[in-house]
Amino acid sequence: MSTTEARTEARTPATPTAQTQGATTYPLKFTLTPSTTARAAAEREAILADPGFGKHFTDHMVTIDWGIEDGWHDARVTPYGPLQIDPASAVLHYAQEIFEGLKAYRHEGGSIWTFRPERNAKRLQRSAHRLALPELAAEDFIEAIRQIVAVDGNWVPSAPETSLYLRPFMIANENFLGVRAAQTVAFYVIASPAGAYFADGVAPVKIWLSTEYSRAGRGGTGSAKCGGNYAASLLPQMEAYENGCAQVLFLDGETGTHIDELGGMNVMFVHGTDRIVTPRLTGTILEGVTRDSILQLARDRGMTVEERDVTIDEWQSGVASGAITEVFACGTAAVVTPISQLKSETIEIGDPDAPAGAITMSLRQELTDIQYGRLPDRHGWMTQLDGQA
Ligand SMILES: Cc1ncc(COP(=O)(O)O)c(C=O)c1O
Repeated sequence: MSTTEARTEARTPATPTAQTQGATTYPLKFTLTPSTTARAAAEREAILADPGFGKHFTDHMVTIDWGIEDGWHDARVTPYGPLQIDPASAVLHYAQEIFEGLKAYRHEGGSIWTFRPERNAKRLQRSAHRLALPELAAEDFIEAIRQIVAVDGNWVPSAPETSLYLRPFMIANENFLGVRAAQTVAFYVIASPAGAYFADGVAPVKIWLSTEYSRAGRGGTGSAKCGGNYAASLLPQMEAYENGCAQVLFLDGETGTHIDELGGMNVMFVHGTDRIVTPRLTGTILEGVTRDSILQLARDRGMTVEERDVTIDEWQSGVASGAITEVFACGTAAVVTPISQLKSETIEIGDPDAPAGAITMSLRQELTDIQYGRLPDRHGWMTQLDGQA
């Protein structure tokens, strides 16, 4: 068998129902080594009272190793702690790394749920394909999340609009400086309690238009969730902060005329009261789970949904004429964020003091009501993570 064949086979099965690969049997079985230094309840509760975002981590983590010969193996839940990584590890040199982000929500009554995890699993597979990493079966991805919630479920906060942020990621950890796809890889899941994104009520934000930098180009990695995309967005993001803006907006890299997305969110335009427009998926933007869900909720309301190119000129003239009534960004972290103004060196579109739009806010409310179990889950988007029925 050639190396290519071995690699391809090692990356399968995508649907691993009771299949074997080398010494590995799918679906994977997880072992648990409980932490002996888990935080006491009082310390955990103090953290959960004001968790912020991405600052605190739960007591355990998930690891699954992959090798070109034996596929995915050694799925385990272990105490949270530093990774020991060789200085020659491929990820440190060639950024062969991908990640995901989703949340666990506590519903009234205490049960723990997550939102459309199969979409994150599939997106991780697409990112893996683009970054020449092995694909992890959706079933194993979701089981990994169940495993961490099973052991660290008491880290899911219960205050309104709080959650446990789940961060699955995959790195190339072969100790080899040759530039080729690594032959050993590891997948991890860590978890971090997250406070309400807008603790004082949802506040519209100003956005900085990056005219100098692009996030993605044709044939690049724009639609993959890989760390390198975010590294490239940090300098323009600093420019945004320096100009009093919360996030940076990127235009398409080829013509610099139409809108791609923000550094970490997709963007949507409300026209009048019954039409919602968002940039189409061209391969340069991330296919957001929130984006897809908002478009579905809009369709359910009878709104017209358009996925197409949106030029910066259309944004400017649409706001000036009143055709565009609301603009907002969407993504897992902040759900829906109203945009009051777009700024660059040369243009200002919108009113920085404008309040959040009514449609923006009602879509936000509807989506969070579904996520927190306050509204029926009519699309089957929610997956229960703990054992409760
Ligand atoms: C670049 C980018 N676009 C869009 C999104 C929104 O995606 P999602 O709704 O799946 O969180 C994210 C967040 O993950 C992102 O990083």
